[in-house]
Amino acid sequence: MSSPQPADLVALAVELVNQISPRLVEARAAQTAGTGTIGVSTKSTDNDLVTEMDEWTENTLVEGLLAARPDDGILGEEGSSIAGTSGVRWVIDPIDGTTNYFYDLCGYSVSVAVQVDGITVGGVVADPVRDETFTATLGGGAFRNGVAITSSSKDDLSTALLATGFNYNADIRQRQANALATVLPRVRDIRRMGGAAIDICLVACGRADAHYEEGLSIWDLAAAALIATEAGAQSSEFGGEPDKPGLSVISSPGIHDDLIALLHDAGAIEAH
Ligand code: IPD
Ligand code: CA
Ligand code: CA
Repeated sequence: MSSPQPADLVALAVELVNQISPRLVEARAAQTAGTGTIGVSTKSTDNDLVTEMDEWTENTLVEGLLAARPDDGILGEEGSSIAGTSGVRWVIDPIDGTTNYFYDLCGYSVSVAVQVDGITVGGVVADPVRDETFTATLGGGAFRNGVAITSSSKDDLSTALLATGFNYNADIRQRQANALATVLPRVRDIRRMGGAAIDICLVACGRADAHYEEGLSIWDLAAAALIATEAGAQSSEFGGEPDKPGLSVISSPGIHDDLIALLHDAGAIEAH
């Protein structure tokens, strides 16, 4: 059997995500208007939220993917774990940035990566609020709503805008706060928008110059990292284990080495 084309796999994910995004916005608007309620509970800590819409999104994606491709594997943040037999695996973060979704902030996304024999060949990150869908295929470039994107040409770290994020684990947060104290005075500014996948896509399209974060999972990272590297950004990972890098660093190429040196100074790399 011939290997599926990454572009076809990405097109399938885009079709499903396009059905899901408006429903997320509608459900959130109904909650704000008092005409609907989104149930919420917690996971790893009291600050790690999961809503009914996270679960609905994951279930809808799994149903749609398996209807089209019944032999594929799936890994989803909210518990989907299907081995599959086709060599294709989908990696899903149904809502990346659930805290933002809960508080009615923008910056959340639906993130879907597709891997063939363990290599990420396609990625889709959809921002329902801005109505922007970022896509990439391995070797095929990166796009926002179908228009090619590139990372910034920034080559001076001291005037670079960095995005980062904070883990739910208090010990990791303490390390992240310590490192931030060294990083912040040496860059233009820091943004913590609240969804790693969108933040990394900001690097892909030049709205930020870099993103770094400790403790991300493959579902946060896989789709967005491919989109960023296909847009020309450089990516490095330090420590951790398969599917869970210790520290992820994604930036415009002109500042990558200097950012890694700064993260060394900040103790963020030595932690791994
Ligand atoms: C989280 C977001 C956040 C990042 C955390 C992630 P979730 O994912 O991406 O920005 O800082 O590390 O766990 O829980 O909203 O899917
Ligand atoms: Ca996530
Ligand atoms: Ca999530």
